[in-house]
Amino acid sequence: MGTSLGTVVVTGAAGRIGSVVRVGLRGEAERLVLVDRVGLAAQSPAEEVRQLDLRDAEAVTAALEGADAVVHLGGVPDEAPLPELLDGNVKGTHNVLEGARRQGVGRVVLASSNRLTGFYPVSTTVTPELPPRPDGLYGVSKVAVEALGRLYADKFGLSVVCLRIGSFEDAPTEQRHLATWLSPRDCLGFVRAALTAIDINFATVYAVSANTRRFWDIEAGSALGYTPMDDAETFTPRIPPAGDAAEHDVQGGAYASAEYTLRHV
Ligand SMILES: NC(=O)c1ccc[n+]([C@@H]2O[C@H](COP(=O)([O-])OP(=O)(O)OC[C@H]3O[C@@H](n4cnc5c(N)ncnc54)[C@H](O)[C@@H]3O)[C@@H](O)[C@H]2O)c1
Repeated sequence: MGTSLGTVVVTGAAGRIGSVVRVGLRGEAERLVLVDRVGLAAQSPAEEVRQLDLRDAEAVTAALEGADAVVHLGGVPDEAPLPELLDGNVKGTHNVLEGARRQGVGRVVLASSNRLTGFYPVSTTVTPELPPRPDGLYGVSKVAVEALGRLYADKFGLSVVCLRIGSFEDAPTEQRHLATWLSPRDCLGFVRAALTAIDINFATVYAVSANTRRFWDIEAGSALGYTPMDDAETFTPRIPPAGDAAEHDVQGGAYASAEYTLRHV
């Protein structure tokens, strides 16, 4: 793919998804700036490392200098006390968007989550246009992440793509994953499309593999330029059967249970 992506900043580069994106974009970005609060070491001449906290607005803005795009993956990836989510996800995303505005970054890709709509019944095919129904406080923080992205697109003309990431795993391991799995290959496909799609002011896309049982619409992703390839169905024989708990009625599954949130309140 050459070096057409220019300078790309990846936040949360030490994380599960960040590590895959880092390797995937290596060789495609002229300069890859890896941001995390965890220390990393550059592994190629194109890589630069910035160890910083996303809550530090000045440090974030400095890391975005000269960037053509930022893939913002850093933050709290699951249910947590609200102050941690506000700090890590809402404030962190605001710092990235404001830094991108100041530095004139051409594309901002935000890691959103399927958990923003986890209270829809499994029988509903959810499109990005439907109202949020978060399955917990984490999902609420991602509603704010997307709203910040929309604000910066509408008010300041930034080009923003929100990826509502499914269950990112090497392979599906539980019943819910049969609908929600996002394979590493499809994840990279969505990130590349989010970086390269042209004429975008604001877009929201479900980043999910082409699972036969998926309950999210993938049309928006196709419009962005990526159609997923993997299907969790091929792993069905390896996955333990589901019980008949009520949690299986909603898309968030166990994440939507009262207990899942109450232990953080
Ligand atoms: N993994 C999934 O299935 C999934 C699903 C939906 C959405 N997401 C979203 O994708 C993103 C990446 O998820 P992941 O699974 O790779 O998570 P992860 O926890 O593995 O990685 C997150 C990274 O962000 C860094 N980080 C956290 N807070 C920071 C801060 N204040 N300053 C600097 N760095 C900070 C962490 O050190 C970590 O390396 C997250 O935004 C998450 O909410 C993930």
